Amino acid sequence: MDDSTGPCQRGKFTAPESFVARRRLRHSLPFDHWMSPGLAQHNKDDLQERLAKIREALGLRSIVLIGLMGAGKTAVGRRLANRLDLPFVDADTEIEVAAGASIGEIFAEHGENYFRQGERKVIMRLLEGGPQVLATGGGAYMNADTRAAIKARGLSIWLKAELKVLLKRVGRRGNRPLLAGGDPEGVMKRLMDERYPIYAKADVTVESRDVPHDVIVSAVIDALAVKLGCDAGAAKAQSRKKAK
Ligand code: S3P
Repeated sequence: MDDSTGPCQRGKFTAPESFVARRRLRHSLPFDHWMSPGLAQHNKDDLQERLAKIREALGLRSIVLIGLMGAGKTAVGRRLANRLDLPFVDADTEIEVAAGASIGEIFAEHGENYFRQGERKVIMRLLEGGPQVLATGGGAYMNADTRAAIKARGLSIWLKAELKVLLKRVGRRGNRPLLAGGDPEGVMKRLMDERYPIYAKADVTVESRDVPHDVIVSAVIDALAVKLGCDAGAAKAQSRKKAK
């Protein structure tokens, strides 16, 4: 049987192949490639304008990320700084540099209290350096002096995550002294009970879900825009949502 005229004949019916090729190409190109160049440029300008407004409203303050171990403070903070074109500083790294030792070594050689004193001093110093994005260790915000300094010189963002998400993330790296004694689930549950009521004092709370970090960064930028009053439209939409 000569079925060369059938619609599924390879070579004759080429539309699906070219469709697949187009789709492949589409996925390898930036999203806005498919918009008219004018519209894409317009959207980029809008985004840049929004980020500039956030930077302006922030002034010399730091955006301070708080939350439990594994909440994504460093990963989200680094990307957030990149988008906002601000410096990124990680408090734990700065503590290690100041002490000339790793956090594990500080805990092992001098104990947690010594670490907490150093943590408070280093964060006080870092807060002088805004505007910037500052990621803090999970216990930092529990100190009342540190909290007051963050309030005065920064805008705090709590990356709030569920236990399951936190455990998945902290399981990947074994460098946290508080989890070194075993039973990470028990320790994290206790820390959630102790710390979540204090973390809730943060200026802004953003859910840190098990999605790519860039999604959380966008949520943080939205929340910042609302908090800083840079986004009248978004603020109205959010209050309508709350009212429902
Ligand atoms: C701690 C969290 C750690 C680090 C130290 C203590 C805490 O930072 O500061 O191990 O008390 O929760 P990350 O939250 O960045 O893991």
